[in-house]
Amino acid sequence: IDESIEPLYLKRRDLKSIAEYIASGECQKVAVMVGAGISTSAGIPDFRSPDTGLYANLKRLDLPEPEAVFDITYFRTNPLPFYTLAHDLYPGKYRPTITHSFIHLLHKKGILKMCWTQNIDTLERAAGVPGEKLVEAHGSFASQRCIECKAPYPDDWIKQHILANPVEIPTCKDTPECNGLVKPDIVFFGEPLPAEFSSSMEQLDDVDLAIVMGTSLMVYPFAGLPTRVPHGPPRLLINNEKVGEIGSRRDDVIFLKECDEAVKILCKEIGWLDELEKLWADT
Ligand code: APR
Repeated sequence: IDESIEPLYLKRRDLKSIAEYIASGECQKVAVMVGAGISTSAGIPDFRSPDTGLYANLKRLDLPEPEAVFDITYFRTNPLPFYTLAHDLYPGKYRPTITHSFIHLLHKKGILKMCWTQNIDTLERAAGVPGEKLVEAHGSFASQRCIECKAPYPDDWIKQHILANPVEIPTCKDTPECNGLVKPDIVFFGEPLPAEFSSSMEQLDDVDLAIVMGTSLMVYPFAGLPTRVPHGPPRLLINNEKVGEIGSRRDDVIFLKECDEAVKILCKEIGWLDELEKLWADT
């Protein structure tokens, strides 16, 4: 649809109608798709925001280009930038945001079909979202292994190395000749996504609502998820800026606002605000 011409039809939906749809009880299967924007208020920078984004601040690691920090080929030649970043980002230092609690609340209400996340900070789990309702498409710090012989390593072993000051590069001790780098199971550029990402696709065939929050939708195949939502269920974008092709369908709703503010406004409209704030306060 060429947005430059007046759309042939009036938009049928706005945030209020989405809230009414959820409050009505008809909306039983919500697909949530999130990115780094939902963790920025927790203190974890996103990647591409102009001044505060990680890629704008990785200059100090003199990378060929910012994304190299997550590139498996570059990592093999120079693992220090990644481990330096991992030292800053390691889970356990950050508290989930009220947006993470909103995803947990959808689950408590029994209407969270699945939450697809690109984030590696495991804050969805920390907020109470159960593992079976999560697809961590870019992996996470939750486990680690040697990138050469694939030997798994215990959490506290790698944590000691990464949290050491200065950081100690964790190398494989499994067999004398291996000596490979031990890397958290985060999906680097050049690595395949977890098998469960593709097997989770079919879940999108039967949803009542899709909510996309805090992502630039720049990195495929994750960025293709909103387009995989069948025509019919409304798609709600909560983001600082318009992204992807959300807005091109009649029932799309675009709410350009900080996600923590947006979820409070949405929950107030539904009648869930007190419950949301209490859930977050207990996190
Ligand atoms: N509220 C709403 N939107 C926000 C907020 C916020 N508090 N903070 C940031 N945003 C928006 C930004 O405007 C941007 O559109 O969230 C989006 C963040 O985009 P990115 O920084 O590109 O993060 P993400 O989409 O998760 O990146 C995808 O890129 O480098 C890879 O693997 C990495 O998973 C990552 C992937």
